[in-house]
Formats: sequence, C-alpha cells, structure tokens
Amino acid sequence: MLNILVTGGNGQLARCIKDASSKYPNALTFSFRSSSELNIADIAAVHKEFEMGGYHYCINTAAYTNVDGAEQDTELAHMINHRGAKNLAIACDTYNTVLIHISTDFVFDGTQNVPYTEMDPTNALGTYGSSKLMGEQAIASICKKYFIIRTSWLYSEYGSNFLKSMLQYGREREELSVVFDQIGTPTYAMDLAEVLLLFIQDKVADYGVYHYSNEGVASWYDFAKAIFDINGISVQLNPIRSDAYPRPAKRPSYSVLDKTKIKKTLQIDIPYWQDSLIKASKALK
Ligand SMILES: NC(=O)c1ccc[n+]([C@@H]2O[C@H](COP(=O)([O-])OP(=O)(O)OC[C@H]3O[C@@H](n4cnc5c(N)ncnc54)[C@H](OP(=O)(O)O)[C@@H]3O)[C@@H](O)[C@H]2O)c1
Repeated sequence: MLNILVTGGNGQLARCIKDASSKYPNALTFSFRSSSELNIADIAAVHKEFEMGGYHYCINTAAYTNVDGAEQDTELAHMINHRGAKNLAIACDTYNTVLIHISTDFVFDGTQNVPYTEMDPTNALGTYGSSKLMGEQAIASICKKYFIIRTSWLYSEYGSNFLKSMLQYGREREELSVVFDQIGTPTYAMDLAEVLLLFIQDKVADYGVYHYSNEGVASWYDFAKAIFDINGISVQLNPIRSDAYPRPAKRPSYSVLDKTKIKKTLQIDIPYWQDSLIKASKALK
C-alpha cells in the first residue's frame, strides 16, 4: 500500500482526486487534509503531519487561486503559493516523500504563438502567476523527487469555476459578453486527477516539470459558446476584447501548453476539451 497525502482537500481538484481514488482501493491509501486541518503555510504543522503520516507521496493541490484577488492579497498569495509549497518541499525532502505539485499556465507571459513546452522561459504577468512560479522554483531547488504539473483553465462539477459560472449566467441573463483574445485550453479536473494518480501507479521516476491540459485550443468565448451549446442554453453571446473587460490582474493572451512530454512518459492519449466538457456537463446534471 502506498500512503498519499492530498493537501487542499476541499478544493475542486482534490475532490476529483477523491473520486478517482476509488479505482485503486487495494493499492493506494489517501489522507485528504482541508485548509483547516493542514495549513501548508505553517511549517510546524506540515512537519507534524509528515512525521505522523509516513507518506510515500504528497499531492499539493492547496493554493491561493483567486487570480484578481492576488493583486490585493499579495502577501497571502505568496505565503500559500510560494512559502506553502516550499514548506512541503522541505518536508518531502526530509521524509523521503515524492511531491506532486500543481502549477499553472500563468507562469508564462503569453507572448508565444506556439504551445509552451516545459523548457520555455517563464515570465509571470501577475501576482498569482509569480507566486506560483516562486513555489515551483523553491520545490526544484529543495526536492530531489518532485513532479510539477502545470495545467490550465480547470473546471469540474466541484467548487467555483468557469463552467458553473456560465451555467448560472445562462439561467439568469439573456445576453453575455466573453473575451475572445485570450487563448488556452480548458481542462476537466477529473482528467487531470486520473493522470496524477497514473504517476503514482506507474511509479514514474523521471522527476521534473510536466504540462497537462485537455487537447485542443479555445478562447474563453469558444469555451462559453461550447458550454451553452452542449447544455442547450440559449443566450446572446458577444465576443469582446480583454481591454473592454479590464481586470486587476493581467493575463497571458496565449497560454496553450505542449503536452508531448507527459503523453510520452505516461503513454496516454489526452481527451479533446469539448469531449471532456460533455462528460463534465453530464456529471453536473
Ligand atoms: N482553477 C484553475 O483554473 C487552475 C488553473 C491552473 C492551475 N491551477 C492550480 O491547480 C491547483 C488546484 O486548483 P483548484 O482549482 O482545485 O483550486 P481550489 O478549488 O481553489 O482549491 C484550492 C484549495 O486550497 C486550499 N487552501 C488555500 N490556502 C491553503 C493553505 N494555506 N493550506 C492548505 N490549503 C489551503 C483551499 O481551501 P479553502 O477553500 O479553505 O481556502 C482550497 O480548498 C492549484 O495549485 C491551482 O493553482 C488551477
């Protein structure tokens, strides 16, 4: 049996991992810890958890994820996304635990027009992205056994996300405007959860950075349009430019991730984003 600690246990990705964990009843044992049970920014609490737990793996889904909020809550975002990740890296290194850490496409500035590989230079535009990037750098400098999985545009039936917001707006409004000049890939958190557990099941030892999203490319406008079409919602949807919808945090205009490395390492095919959106929409109903 392998013991696995999952931090941020009430978040959407952690809840998807909980669902996916039922596929491994005899091989993997999971301990999910919510933010109130384990604050990753508290180094003493982290050490105590690892000392007691005897964990083979730690999946860190805990994060400050409010991209715009981070521009105000700068200290808090750094405390969780940078120093929290660093605390887990120290504990993992001390207790010989493999760290699987989730990061983001927002470590890139979006100036490329071809998908970002793991080798491409990072340059975060806002506090959320830079705090996540500093978390990555701390892990890479402290841990010997780590996987950093960068992903993008997560949604699922759990928590707050773009799919659920659009379904709610679709019920409440007749007209909606969504930006069409930010390009990336929506990712069903359930698909990501299954892939994270594959790293453990396959005992992958090629440590380092990996990119994972669903296949394909979309703008937020395309994503919204697909949500409404798939769910049979009729709403007047207007494409707008980002400068017509100013937000506190600057976002990359192009953050498509190249997934060649993860597909080769895990020998997997990745679902196309609209196919996964259909699955998630069914799960929500
Ligand atoms: N959502 C996206 O679109 C997206 C895109 C790319 C990458 N990611 C990354 O994917 C990962 C999972 O995201 P998600 O969508 O599952 O986020 P989420 O639903 O916001 O979950 C994050 C969880 O972290 C917990 N948390 C916050 N501060 C903590 C602390 N100090 N100690 C322990 N737990 C803490 C939160 O608990 P409370 O609710 O109690 O605060 C929450 O349950 C994150 O690393 C995120 O950066 C997300």
